[in-house]
Amino acid sequence: MNPYSLEGRRALVTGANTGIGQAIAVSLAAQGARVTCAGRRGSEATVARIIEAGGEADAMLLDFADPMAARDAFAGAGYSILVNNAGVIRREDSVDFSEADWDDVMDVNLKALFFTTQAFARACLKDGSTPAAVVNIASLLSFQGGIRVPSYTASKHGVAGLTKVLANEWAAKGINVNAIAPGYIATNNTTALRADPVRNKSILERIPAGRWGDPSDIAGTAAFLCSQAARYIHGAVLNVDGGWLAR
Ligand SMILES: NC(=O)c1ccc[n+]([C@@H]2O[C@H](COP(=O)([O-])OP(=O)(O)OC[C@H]3O[C@@H](n4cnc5c(N)ncnc54)[C@H](OP(=O)(O)O)[C@@H]3O)[C@@H](O)[C@H]2O)c1
Repeated sequence: MNPYSLEGRRALVTGANTGIGQAIAVSLAAQGARVTCAGRRGSEATVARIIEAGGEADAMLLDFADPMAARDAFAGAGYSILVNNAGVIRREDSVDFSEADWDDVMDVNLKALFFTTQAFARACLKDGSTPAAVVNIASLLSFQGGIRVPSYTASKHGVAGLTKVLANEWAAKGINVNAIAPGYIATNNTTALRADPVRNKSILERIPAGRWGDPSDIAGTAAFLCSQAARYIHGAVLNVDGGWLAR
């Protein structure tokens, strides 16, 4: 059997309507998974791309304004792949940072990620849907501080920590938990940075690959981490950053 194949697997990707989540959903489907494209808005465009390419997909509304929104999403449904991609960012000087900008980011990026993963793992273990894989989308700000993004940096450091604790608890139960730390990728998340000529120039000068990443640069890594080729990888936070952290 091809160890990279995801044939026969059922996957759920959060925030699959756009950006990195959309690219990951397309990539998992290309490897044979049946993909549920979850989002707070419809993910029909992603579903259409997958079906046009000959894959299998459906859409699910999942809004992490309620961080417990996914509590009933997995039971009895046979999912064995979860990609926690949904995320938000708020930029403001730390001296002016509001409680709302703290809570909104922590709720989506960290609390929802944990309780979605808990619901997924409970279903996998109860239904015997293993081997299973969780891929969390972390960030360079799981390692670095960033500027004017305190809740985002705190949440993404938290994602790296959760990736490790969950890997420790579930590795022997057939669930691989890993994370990807994307570098600077051209999506809605980074529109403000790319529109700022000073920040854009300084970012580009530091990336050894010499360009912004594309969502498709992340997608293959996610598919790999969900596959049996990655079966002995547990608790890793893998940089996919054009070399940024190597500088
Ligand atoms: N772009 C980068 O350079 C970069 C670097 C490191 C890490 N990341 C991470 O990569 C992930 C994807 O981001 P992206 O770059 O692809 O940006 P994006 O285009 O803004 O995508 C973010 C996704 O999260 C969804 N989302 C936001 N709030 C939500 C909520 N309350 N409930 C459900 N879904 C929600 C968004 O839905 P809407 O479209 O409805 O807003 C969208 O689908 C995030 O976790 C981000 O932190 C990105």
